[in-house]
Amino acid sequence: MKAAILGTGAWASAFGRHLCHKWERVVLWGVKPEQVDSINQTGTNPAFLPGILLPPNLRATLDLDDCLSHADVVFSVVPSQVVREVMAKVAASEALPRGVPVINLAKGFEVKTLERLSQVIDEELARSGRRAEHPVGVLLGPSHAEEVALELPTAVVLSGQPGGDWSHWQTWISGPFFRVYTNADMTGVEIATGFKNIIALAVGMADGLGTGDNTRGTIMTRGMVELSRLGCALGGRPETFSGLAGFGDMITTCISRHSRNRNFGQAVTEGTEGPQKLLERQVQVVEGVYMTQAALKLSEKHGIELPITKQVHDVLFSGKPPRQAMRELMERQLRPELE
Ligand SMILES: NC(=O)c1ccc[n+]([C@@H]2O[C@H](COP(=O)([O-])OP(=O)(O)OC[C@H]3O[C@@H](n4cnc5c(N)ncnc54)[C@H](O)[C@@H]3O)[C@@H](O)[C@H]2O)c1
Repeated sequence: MKAAILGTGAWASAFGRHLCHKWERVVLWGVKPEQVDSINQTGTNPAFLPGILLPPNLRATLDLDDCLSHADVVFSVVPSQVVREVMAKVAASEALPRGVPVINLAKGFEVKTLERLSQVIDEELARSGRRAEHPVGVLLGPSHAEEVALELPTAVVLSGQPGGDWSHWQTWISGPFFRVYTNADMTGVEIATGFKNIIALAVGMADGLGTGDNTRGTIMTRGMVELSRLGCALGGRPETFSGLAGFGDMITTCISRHSRNRNFGQAVTEGTEGPQKLLERQVQVVEGVYMTQAALKLSEKHGIELPITKQVHDVLFSGKPPRQAMRELMERQLRPELE
């Protein structure tokens, strides 16, 4: 089996490393020559996945056609806000083999259109007249690259459009330390895995204030309420939010030292620079920041209250001090838990 992987960042490298155990050809496509050269020449990707040795059969290229040619499946592992521009290139490429599925591994929504990334990919395939040929799927869940690269047991969810042979790909992508479940609710899976990054930012901001485990548990749980409210309004199934893409990814992201979003939230609270300055210096993508903007617009559109999301947004974009945000959350009107 042959894989084309778009991206040469942390997740593309760790996922590619995993596939190399049983796939015949795995090629990463990148736009940064230093990343591509490092993977090919030293078998490492120090800026994105430090301390990890990549297998000799994991190859990287700057040539998109080289990556796509002969692929049995395309995995998109670039940040959410560039998925459209990357997919436009892929869909226009003569080298994209007919009929291969395109599976997205990025977490989030496109902010300017408020679309899920599977919708963005589908649109770009349609623009090149190739929609009917390529089933679109997503592979998402609690899967820190740093841990997958160390072959620590991990489970994720594969979900896709009707017509794709997803159980076939479930078998091919699974391995001894990487277990893949299928879930027909692609909408719910995408919403849950994108939204939880906002809550991880909130947990990080709270951690930076020196709050405790009670606070963490509360933010995660009330965050799940917000996620489920928005997710159900957008067509996701409630059961999905209790699964790996929901609670699973929420817990992992909010408690992990590897979580970029949690760590960024903490840096915002503890730092002297504002969030925007911190973001400019960030080498790797912090998806929760963009997702906060998308979720707030969606909440306004659908008339849904997202109090934690709103406070995270105000800290990131309106200069509200995190301590004030926390106080305002605690002083909201008292209400029954289940309503
Ligand atoms: N890192 C993880 O543990 C992890 C796990 C699961 C899912 N994800 C998701 O995967 C996505 C990628 O995350 P990551 O951690 O690999 O990010 P990263 O910042 O480590 O890497 C991003 C990659 O995208 C490339 N890129 C950026 N802009 C581009 C453009 N315009 N055209 C082509 N390539 C471009 C960069 O060069 C880099 O190779 C995110 O949505 C993230 O939420 C990450």
